[in-house]
Amino acid sequence: PGFTVEIVPELDSTNSELMRRARNGLFEPILLVAERQTAGRGRLGRDWASDTQPAAAGAASLTFSLGLLLAPQDWSGLSLVVGLAVVEALHPGLQLKWPNDVWLDERKLGGILIETATGVGDMRYVVIGVGLNLTMPDSQGLRTPAAALREVLPGVEAPTVLERVVRPLVHAVQRFSETGFVPFRAAFAKRDVLQGRDVLCSDGQSGACRGVDGRGALLVHTAEGLVSITSAEVSVRPA
Ligand code: BTN
Repeated sequence: PGFTVEIVPELDSTNSELMRRARNGLFEPILLVAERQTAGRGRLGRDWASDTQPAAAGAASLTFSLGLLLAPQDWSGLSLVVGLAVVEALHPGLQLKWPNDVWLDERKLGGILIETATGVGDMRYVVIGVGLNLTMPDSQGLRTPAAALREVLPGVEAPTVLERVVRPLVHAVQRFSETGFVPFRAAFAKRDVLQGRDVLCSDGQSGACRGVDGRGALLVHTAEGLVSITSAEVSVRPA
């Protein structure tokens, strides 16, 4: 299926823009890229540090959203599938931190924000936002230390990254919509930074991480036994 590609110099947020369009009845399959975002959003109501923020002065990032109609399903594994497509397209050293962060060397390199809007019939319009740091000269003041793609791909530019990522990403999303998360599980395990580590969840549970289940839920071996976690924030517990 064809996708419109739209590249604009500045937007508040590529996710916000596609969600607005969906609310106005526009459900076209699109890849929307913004060279700058003035109000980029992250999960849990956070903002997404971009070059507009003093904390990351001089930083450059690639920010885009893919919008498309998908049949209703269990979305829980989608952000893992998106992350997997991104890291596999870019570099063997990139890892994923459940549920939606791209990691390099124990630091966050990028994030994924997925939102859905009412679509057509029982289809939902799904907006998949991806933000990747290209350079991160000064991550002081960020909530967590950040990593950048140029650490592993020296000098790489945004269009090149986009070119490498988009096709595999679209394929992965379409495949996920037919099969769900199960066929991606083994590949995810290879990139999973949490597997085998002691983790602390925002809901208070903690234990050794045992990877993810067939729906993409995080498995944690707690004092009460093996629990599957679908929505919590998880951090690696310092040794
Ligand atoms: C996170 O780390 O919590 C998710 C960050 C997602 C950032 C991307 S940048 C493109 C798209 N537009 C947004 O406003 N957010 C996503």
